[in-house]
Amino acid sequence: MSIRSKSNDLKKRMNNALQGGGQKAIAKQIAMGKMTARERILAIVDDESFHEYDLFVEHAGKDFDMDKKTLPGDGVISGTGTINGYPVCIFAQDFTVAGGSLGYMHAKKITKIMNHALKMKVPLIGINDSGGARIQEGVNSLAGYGEIFYLNTLASGVIPQISVILGPCAGGAVYSPALTDFVFVVDNISKMFITGPEVIKTVLGEEISMEELGGARVHAEITGNAHFFAHSEYECFSQINKLLSFIPWNNSKKAEPFETASPKRAYSISNIFPQDPKEPYDIRDIIRSLVDSSDFFEVQELFAPNIVIGFARIEGETVGFVANQPLVLAGVLDVDSSDKAARFIRFCDAFNIPLVTLVDLPGYLPGIDQEHAGVIRHGAKILYAYSEASVAKITVILRKAYGGGYIAMSSRHLRADFVFAWPTAEIAVMGPEGAANIIFRAEINAAENPEEVRQKKVLEYKEKFANPYVAAAFGHVDAVIKPTETRKIIAHSLNVAINKVVNRPNKKHGIPPF
Ligand code: HXC
Repeated sequence: MSIRSKSNDLKKRMNNALQGGGQKAIAKQIAMGKMTARERILAIVDDESFHEYDLFVEHAGKDFDMDKKTLPGDGVISGTGTINGYPVCIFAQDFTVAGGSLGYMHAKKITKIMNHALKMKVPLIGINDSGGARIQEGVNSLAGYGEIFYLNTLASGVIPQISVILGPCAGGAVYSPALTDFVFVVDNISKMFITGPEVIKTVLGEEISMEELGGARVHAEITGNAHFFAHSEYECFSQINKLLSFIPWNNSKKAEPFETASPKRAYSISNIFPQDPKEPYDIRDIIRSLVDSSDFFEVQELFAPNIVIGFARIEGETVGFVANQPLVLAGVLDVDSSDKAARFIRFCDAFNIPLVTLVDLPGYLPGIDQEHAGVIRHGAKILYAYSEASVAKITVILRKAYGGGYIAMSSRHLRADFVFAWPTAEIAVMGPEGAANIIFRAEINAAENPEEVRQKKVLEYKEKFANPYVAAAFGHVDAVIKPTETRKIIAHSLNVAINKVVNRPNKKHGIPPF
């Protein structure tokens, strides 16, 4: 065969492979408002940067007439590309080919690109659109998932792993994303569940829609499985792009620095922070008043909104913010907010991103619901995550820092490097009302006018403890600062901590309260 005819043969083979599941299946995919797998990859990576591998891989199924079927690329597209000029490894499951189900060779393609990402130390992006383990391939599909889960775990904390859910993802197709660092969902398109509506109907006799069971909003608001919620696939891809601009390629690097930029004038602390200590405010506006261009990229915005987490830059360098949100439940810590913050702290710590913590909370949420939901176990996660984190930790106490909340929110005792307090800070074991009721109970009850005595005792307690100066007198707080100095002091502290080293006792690993 001449070079020309060989080239023609290659072209023909490529054309066949690029057909995916065929026109009918592609039309169905488009009718559902979804892009095809290859279109998705091309829309995420830089123009002309995608290099596909394993296009000619064939499936290994032999049973149930599978040997008579061709499944182009075995239902997954994989390769390398760049985003903003930086390399990434990427795969996208092709729902038009056997529902993107995961057979043995499909899994092999994914694990190959995962191994590449791990070896080259570049981020991994997985686009999931799959009915889960390919039923016809039996244990070989399960084996494939097992290999993927193992590699997700091995790569955890080494390279950033990003999962994009762009279809009905069932069974094993949701556990790999759950092991990765960030999960992106799109309204009306993403569905995640372990057992689908069919199984639920068969086993439990209940009718439920895929949307109700595990739609994008369910995972962005209720389960917390999703970190970013978008209204379209394009919006989702621009969120991925933005996230990658804030984080490093791997755990041996720092995030790429940007030019310093001042916060926008529209965000001024004196306008945002209320005079009345009982009045709520949006902590995100305080963050915006502190960071470059007032650009705060919030993570898990819709889940457990009583705590706010996300990335921003101060003097060009990426920092991770963790902040109580007085607008929601007065910013208390509870089961979900503890989980949310703990995972974010561990991500930042693994990827050399300094942590800035803003504190304003009355403590952990009381009540039987929280106690029975395991607030002890979940609440302990945030203590563990902060104590374990060895990146620079800077804490600013704005207003309330009561009880366990004071300790948990990156206190000096969990080894924050710098702890600052605004003059409005109130650092105490509990709020003055509760404290006075407990420690002066006998005196109040015995008084002729108990309410008057109670008020007096509340005031007494407030004057004694509900300020930053007792903590400052013991060195638990390094400095009481003017709110307007906060950005400057954080920037200075980040600079001072640039070569921070922490020595720890030798161990294989700790045992966090998972
Ligand atoms: C083989 C599958 C498949 C699967 C879908 N297909 N899922 N083939 N194995 N797991 C095929 C369908 O037969 C169909 O083929 C095509 O993909 C499109 O599927 P539809 O059902 O027509 O699409 P839709 O109506 O959109 O429904 C999508 C779906 C549904 C919700 C994902 O297909 C479904 O419920 N599939 C099974 C999901 C599931 O239970 N997976 C768990 C597997 S066990 P044709 O030829 O007709 O076009 C598992 C265990 C791992 O994953 C556990 C790890 C911890």
